Amino acid sequence: MTPVRPYPVTPMRQVPERIPRPPYVGDPGPELYDGPDVMPPEIVEKMRHAGRVAAAAMAAGAELVTPGTTTDAIDAAIHDFLIQHGAYPATLRYRGFPKSCCTSVNEVICHGIPDARPLEDGDMVKIDVTAYIDGVHGDTCATYLCGEVDEAGLLLSERTHEAMLRGIRAVRPGRRVNVIGRVIEAFAGRFGYGVVRDFTGHGCHVAFHSGLIIPHYDTPRFDDLMVPGMCFTIEPMLAEGSPESSIWADGWTAVTRDRSRVAQFEHTLVVTEDGAEILTL
Ligand code: MF3
Ligand code: CO
Ligand code: CO
Repeated sequence: MTPVRPYPVTPMRQVPERIPRPPYVGDPGPELYDGPDVMPPEIVEKMRHAGRVAAAAMAAGAELVTPGTTTDAIDAAIHDFLIQHGAYPATLRYRGFPKSCCTSVNEVICHGIPDARPLEDGDMVKIDVTAYIDGVHGDTCATYLCGEVDEAGLLLSERTHEAMLRGIRAVRPGRRVNVIGRVIEAFAGRFGYGVVRDFTGHGCHVAFHSGLIIPHYDTPRFDDLMVPGMCFTIEPMLAEGSPESSIWADGWTAVTRDRSRVAQFEHTLVVTEDGAEILTL
């Protein structure tokens, strides 16, 4: 497998003035969020909408996953879809990120910048979309297979999806958030996969990344109690090899140091009275 390398990035796409921007656009970063991660029903209802729009935008981008399409073309489709549905692409100008989604191919763990690289037969491409609409965020990611992917890649993707679902099924009020990583890491370990530790799930609602951390590995830290109304993401990244990461000179693109491939799936969810409701379907 040829290593992924940077390609030219097109100029930033414009968002019409009528689409409300999140507060961090134009700033170096968001203001520190010190509010709650538990959202009232009116906000959760808005999140259902943001989540649906994010999922549909991701699916629109995924339709283009085929050998020869550039990740920039996928970004364009997602950008246009979000705008047509009244949403701002939350990654665009978030801490200076230049594009409307993240596209992370093969050994790119996450935060890949859509660029002029044409997808190749056998690529695994993660598309991560966050919609900002009506003051709230919906954040989702999935792994898509380009052309013929080998058996090992297919299994990595399927098992990462299953790992995410198991994490979601572990959600219940009264438990601590670190049960999620416990079940994910136990499942990943059966197959010898490395669980990425440098990037985690996060509180996600009025704030894109609230400060609440949801690790995908087993740790006694991060022991916040889950309560109904709490909104956060679960987004495991599993590596075929070592999960150790390094960042490209662009300041964003995270890759495995050993260049092993990574799959990722992400949903935003709300804790219910007896489990979780997935918002990004
Ligand atoms: N959507 C990513 C997440 O799951 C965050 C992307 S931030 C960006 O948290 F700046 F890289 F776009
Ligand atoms: Co996320
Ligand atoms: Co995301």
